[in-house]
Amino acid sequence: MSASDAAKLESVPLRVTDRERIPAKRYYDPAFFELERERLWPHVWQMACRLEEIPEVGDYVEYRNLDKSVIIVRTKTGVKAFANACRHRGVQLISEGGNCKSRGFICPFHGWRWNMDGENTFVFGKQIFTPDVLAKAELDLVPVRVETWGGSAFINFDDAAPSLLDSLGPVATKLSDRNVDSLRAEWWYATILPTNWKLAMEAFMEGYHVMRTHPQLNATMGMNPYGIDKDMVPSSTGMTTREFVDGTLKFFEVNGRGMAGMILDSEVAIAERSRDMPLPDDLMEAAGSFYARVKDDIYQDGLEKGLPVFDINKADAKNGFTYVEFMFPHYFLLPFFSAMSSYRIRPLTPETCYFEIWSLAPMAEDDPRPRVTKPVFLAYDSKDYPEIPQQDYANLPLQQLGLHAQGFEHMRLSHEKEGMISNYQRLIDGYLAGLDKEKLAKASQIVNSGFDAPILDIGF
Ligand code: FES
Ligand SMILES: [Fe+2]
Repeated sequence: MSASDAAKLESVPLRVTDRERIPAKRYYDPAFFELERERLWPHVWQMACRLEEIPEVGDYVEYRNLDKSVIIVRTKTGVKAFANACRHRGVQLISEGGNCKSRGFICPFHGWRWNMDGENTFVFGKQIFTPDVLAKAELDLVPVRVETWGGSAFINFDDAAPSLLDSLGPVATKLSDRNVDSLRAEWWYATILPTNWKLAMEAFMEGYHVMRTHPQLNATMGMNPYGIDKDMVPSSTGMTTREFVDGTLKFFEVNGRGMAGMILDSEVAIAERSRDMPLPDDLMEAAGSFYARVKDDIYQDGLEKGLPVFDINKADAKNGFTYVEFMFPHYFLLPFFSAMSSYRIRPLTPETCYFEIWSLAPMAEDDPRPRVTKPVFLAYDSKDYPEIPQQDYANLPLQQLGLHAQGFEHMRLSHEKEGMISNYQRLIDGYLAGLDKEKLAKASQIVNSGFDAPILDIGF
């Protein structure tokens, strides 16, 4: 690390100085939260909306994070974003979604107007203003940088930040190869968790918690299918080929039901058809053949049904497979076969966050299900959540409280399996230190590769 980077990092309060120990106050200190507001959020790509929320020209939604609100609108020339503030005296122009094709945006205070491209089209009583106060550049809505990828629009307040794809890195190709951009939402839930936003993100960065938090997943195979203990590969468990197939089918079913998505009911049913397929005795070989057949059957079935599916075996062979794919700082996807679950977490206060989950699935053009454009809001402890999110949500408020305990100075991490938490927190320190933007983007690419990753060198 250069001396100047070191000096900048040195100035960050509560910074991570020991890569295996994360200071507890980072999750509740109000000054640290303010620093994130000032130095992190204005410089990162934020998933602002799903494009299916704005399918028609003129459709718009509001994206809000902390004190910043942005209008995302589909125009004739693509998706645009504007700061959500009237250029007269600052009133927010929208507070929910709609379509502005015929009327544009109208300020509720004195009635100034803009078209969907953000151009001012009307000022009431122009003659009472000095002309230069009304210069065009002064009146058009302030554009915000926006890029689309993966079926979503992302915004960034920093015009000098590297592009979205340069910040995402290889994860973008990996997910594009899984047709992420053509998935549609089956459902969308939102809640407020009494938990710091980073703590909420970190609950999904490792499979180490599956054993205790989601015991029903372990029970399906008599082992942790997320491979937490590297000695516990199927071949070392004495499991027979048949036991492996039975356990795996159970795992698909329990996992799909527990997420109400991610593995679709139709995929579980397709996999079930291969229960009795002939398999070699060697367990690793059998596992490979079984998975290959199931993936191919799901692909073929999708093709027959006219779904926007992809060759799952080909994608996995090309890119490998990761259970959770992160897009720093606040968005992640959980792929499996043809579908994915999708999570976004936004800070509200130092100790609360706004937490959303979508179930995404491939759907045919004429799929009759209504377009999902608004989340269903549920209390975080609602029994209406699918089982797996319920289990994840149950731990987080307790962890937030525990961090305040007398003598709890830092959390300790497994360097081997919880490294992503360290990598991610050190990247946040890089933003708080104001390091070079290219360097931060490179580090993001490394952090994004992270579920179950060890502690890695992120370049600073
Ligand atoms: S504040 Fe918007 S028109 Fe006056
Ligand atoms: Fe979990």
